[in-house]
Amino acid sequence: MAISSGTKVAAVLTGVIAILGGFVYNLVSVDIVALKSLPEAWYAFPSGAVEVIFQDELKYCEDALFDHEMGIAILSCDPGRGEWNTVMGTMYNPNPKGALYLYNYVTKTDLRQVELVGLPEASDFHPLGINFYREPGKETRLFVVNHQRNGSTVDVFTLDYENSKAAYMTSISDGDQNILAPNAIAPISYTSFYVTNDHYFIPRLHPILNKIETFGSLPLGWVTLVDIAGPIPKFSTAISNIGFANGIVLTPTGKEVIVASTISKPPSVFIYTRDSATNTLTFNSSVAVPFRPDNLNFDDGLDVNDKTAFDDEGRFLRGLIAAGHPAPLKLFAVSRDPVHKKAPSWVVEIRRGGESDKAAWSATEVVGSTDGEFSLRTLYQSNGSHFGTSTTGAVDFSRGKMLVSGLYEKGLLEFGWNI
Ligand SMILES: *[C@@H]1O[C@H](CO)[C@@H](O)[C@H](O)[C@H]1NC(C)=O
Ligand SMILES: *[C@@H]1O[C@H](CO)[C@@H](O)[C@H](O)[C@H]1NC(C)=O
Ligand SMILES: *[C@@H]1O[C@H](CO)[C@@H](O)[C@H](O)[C@H]1NC(C)=O
Repeated sequence: MAISSGTKVAAVLTGVIAILGGFVYNLVSVDIVALKSLPEAWYAFPSGAVEVIFQDELKYCEDALFDHEMGIAILSCDPGRGEWNTVMGTMYNPNPKGALYLYNYVTKTDLRQVELVGLPEASDFHPLGINFYREPGKETRLFVVNHQRNGSTVDVFTLDYENSKAAYMTSISDGDQNILAPNAIAPISYTSFYVTNDHYFIPRLHPILNKIETFGSLPLGWVTLVDIAGPIPKFSTAISNIGFANGIVLTPTGKEVIVASTISKPPSVFIYTRDSATNTLTFNSSVAVPFRPDNLNFDDGLDVNDKTAFDDEGRFLRGLIAAGHPAPLKLFAVSRDPVHKKAPSWVVEIRRGGESDKAAWSATEVVGSTDGEFSLRTLYQSNGSHFGTSTTGAVDFSRGKMLVSGLYEKGLLEFGWNI
């Protein structure tokens, strides 16, 4: 990546100063205000049903995404996260393997664990961000971030929905260089994808500097473009200097890529214009959000020709979903004691155009007034008692369905409403 060592040293010093000063005040006050202001549960779908499902079957699911065409949700869960979280630095026992699941979210039936066919016996399996790519009528390619003990990989599978099997193809890594701290994936084709790297200093190699990077809000994360069409994977840096680059989405028109920056000031998602011929990304705008953003999803059920969903330049007008953590210190406490501690949740839809948020604790109030280019619409918020540690909101507006996953929650939060 393109950071000189001089820049790094300067950045680290800046971080140390930030820790001593603004940081403590900021984080603590953010937590206190959030816990005071968030309701036990608020959601945007008054006509709907809401329930926590699969509390006995699913534990600690980080990612959830909808395959709209199939009507199936793909889930990435790791019940051993309390002992193995390479992002938050709890690393005691990498042995218990996580798992992927399929769930028919339309009929609300048929939860199935995915059999990983051909995954090497010696491989760890700690899935984080997952995403798929499929051309009409062809096979489904699944990309999985896998936080293994000796280094993270992006594992590639062919997904067979009918038999709930994922046939292992390959693991992509390059010795802690371009795939160092992978978090989330945005596939471009069967053989190329963008992947976020959340940290430059990872807990396995630099435990102290990792904390300084996080708590000093240092912009050292980045996005790697990976091309595996040839015999050797090709890596290039698509975006540099993003503080804790977390969720990533490529919109259905292919014209924009959105990245969540968990530690930017203010916490924001960044919107990049994409040149689809070269995969080059150019910064266009940022949208402040009222929490530390984690995963991003897009309602891929939206039609690219729908003028209420995309403008003439192919930019999204609605359908971008961000989930995250309004009280980051609480989340940190939960990562140390997932059984007894709770941390709040917040999921919003990001739209272009000015609208005010109707939530119990309004997103508009938290982020302050904007220039009216973007607005936030809360879909769900909770102080953590109802459903905590929200990492992902997967939404299918055309069917009136939403699933929320929680990093340290049992089960999933399911919404259904009348459309
Ligand atoms: C959430 O709010 C409810 C209602 O005010 C309260 O009883 C509960 O203790 C709160 N939970 C947390 C974790 O703060
Ligand atoms: C991790 O690396 C160690 C030391 O090189 C090696 O002994 C071990 O087999 C590796 N484990 C896995 C699961 O790759
Ligand atoms: C973002 O994109 C819009 C539409 O193409 C353009 O008008 C605007 O100037 C861009 N902003 C920046 C900062 O590049």
